[in-house]
Amino acid sequence: METALVTGAARGIGRGIVERLAADGYRVIALDRRDDVHDLAHIAETIVADVQDRAAIAAIMERFAPLDVIVNNAGITSTHRFEDLTEQDFRDNFDVNTVGTFIVAQEGARRMRNGGRIVNIASRSFAGAPQMAHYVASKTAVVGLTRAMAIDLSPRDIRVNAVAPGVVDTDMLHYMTPERQQVMLSLQLLGRIGQPEDIARAVAFLASSENRYITGQVLIVDGGRSLGQGQLPPEPSPYN
Ligand SMILES: NC(=O)c1ccc[n+]([C@@H]2O[C@H](COP(=O)([O-])OP(=O)(O)OC[C@H]3O[C@@H](n4cnc5c(N)ncnc54)[C@H](O)[C@@H]3O)[C@@H](O)[C@H]2O)c1
Repeated sequence: METALVTGAARGIGRGIVERLAADGYRVIALDRRDDVHDLAHIAETIVADVQDRAAIAAIMERFAPLDVIVNNAGITSTHRFEDLTEQDFRDNFDVNTVGTFIVAQEGARRMRNGGRIVNIASRSFAGAPQMAHYVASKTAVVGLTRAMAIDLSPRDIRVNAVAPGVVDTDMLHYMTPERQQVMLSLQLLGRIGQPEDIARAVAFLASSENRYITGQVLIVDGGRSLGQGQLPPEPSPYN
């Protein structure tokens, strides 16, 4: 049985990933800084810890080594006009989203079997998003980290990829105003917001041993939003 560790597991996308990997037969370690991660105790070994706490993360990795899969999903966000964004907001997003991913990936890689897989949860917003410069920059850094790790860990056949979700139905979305959520929905090519299991499916593939030859890639899972297109009314073109 392979061992998979998922961060930010208590709710939302992380929870969906834990449920999927448990159903796929992994021994799953579900880690979150929130106590209610223990609600997953029926399908995973649950741990309360902060991804920024290197000593705690190293001890957890030591306890569950050797690992086969790591999913770096823990993340934070907020929205601010660029003019109002504080340096603290900016640093906080980097500390959790980027440095937290680095710490977990590094401590995990040190104790991972050769042939392991790492999946980092980035965001479609690495391509840009309004009022989120701190978040966008931190997730773009996750993409860069993914590509660099894929190179550095390739001698050990460890495949490192990122999944970049579009808008997903979690608390991270619900904190936004209804008006903003409506704009988000209007941009969805497939006409619906993503569900955590939509992201979990993509993660499950990249994390699996079926993924033999994909590394350093970013899989955008956004229902087509990144194509930047809507539907036009069907009408014959007189041109030609
Ligand atoms: N929901 C979306 O629309 C969306 C879109 C693109 C990317 N994402 C990314 O997907 C990931 C999950 O997002 P979500 O929507 O499920 O968010 P969420 O807020 O519902 O869940 C995030 C989880 O991460 C945990 N967490 C936060 N900081 C942590 C830390 N320092 N240490 C340990 N755990 C910590 C939280 O406690 C929470 O349980 C995040 O990385 C997010 O940036 C989400």
